[in-house]
Parts: sequence; C-alpha cells; structure tokens
Amino acid sequence: MIIRSRKCWLVVLGLVVTAQMIIGGLSATAQTAKDAKPAEKAEPKKTTRQSFMEGKLTISQEILQGVVLSDFKLIEKGGIGLNLLTLGEEWVLNDSKEYNRMSEDLRRISKQLVKAARDKNGEAATLAYQRMTLNCVECHQALRDGLK
Ligand code: HEC
Repeated sequence: MIIRSRKCWLVVLGLVVTAQMIIGGLSATAQTAKDAKPAEKAEPKKTTRQSFMEGKLTISQEILQGVVLSDFKLIEKGGIGLNLLTLGEEWVLNDSKEYNRMSEDLRRISKQLVKAARDKNGEAATLAYQRMTLNCVECHQALRDGLK
C-alpha cells in the first residue's frame, strides 16, 4: 500500500514536471512567435514603381470624392496630379504603340478633369471620371492579356 502510494506520488510528480515542461515550452514558443512577429508582419518592400502606380489609385479616389461632393478644388488637384503621374519616367513601362496610346488617353482625360473643375461643370467632371475608370481598366486588361 505504501509502495503503491509512493508510486502514485511519483506519477503525480511526473505529471507535474511534464506539465511544467509543456507550459514552459509553450510560453517559450509564444515568446519566439512574439519576437518573430515584426519580421513576419513586415510586408515585402515595395518597389518605386509599385508605390508610384498605387499613387494613381489614391488620386482617383480623391477625384471620385470631388465628383460626388462637387468639390471642384479636389477634382482640379486630382486632375493635375494624374497628369503629372503620366509624365513620370516610372510611367513608361514599355514603348508599344498601344501602351503609348492609352497613356496619351489618360493624359487627355486628366486635362478634361482639370478643365471641368475650373468650369465648375459637374457633368463634364463625372463624364471624365468615367472615361478615366475605363482607361485604367483598359490598360490593365491589355497588360494582363500580354501587351508588350
Ligand atoms: C497605360 C497603361 C496604364 C493605365 C492607363 C493605368 N495603369 Fe495602373 N498600372 C499600369 C502598369 C504598367 C502597372 C504596373 C504593373 C506591374 O508593375 O507589374 C500598373 C499598376 C497599377 C497599380 C498597382 C497594382 C499592384 O499590383 O500593386 C494600381 C493600383 C494602378 N495601376 C491603378 C491605376 C489606376 C487607378 C488607373 C487609372 C487612373 C491606372 N492604373 C491606369 C499601367 C496603367
């Protein structure tokens, strides 16, 4: 009986030690995961071109805001920003005729946006915004289809 209970204690002791090891191990793992977090979280660094291209989206969103709120200053600012973007060297990805044509389209549309804003013409601004969206989609589609 005595031996039995001793065995019993040994088992209990063994369990406690094992549990401590598991808990210790878990918290060590948690610590490692915590330490590793910043590295895991850090997104791959964006290239200049990516940040540049994403700038188009920010500007388009501002233009949409200007269009729906009849904020002509915002439309004008966006139109000018878009025009400048299309003139940047990062814009020129390739020299194909089609790419150049679509870039030229966007340049023209950005000027229409600026003009509509200066004329305080909401309808013209809305139309230009729609043309702009079609132009964004057209070029991206062409790129996906293998435009060189
Ligand atoms: C004449 C072609 C052309 C037009 C027009 C165009 N883009 Fe792009 N866009 C590109 C190219 C080229 C890339 C970069 C693709 C790459 O790096 O693989 C790009 C990338 C982007 C990206 C980044 C995507 C990513 O994977 O990070 C965004 C956002 C974007 N464009 C938004 C727009 C918006 C908004 C418009 C319209 C205002 C627009 N683009 C018009 C050619 C165009």
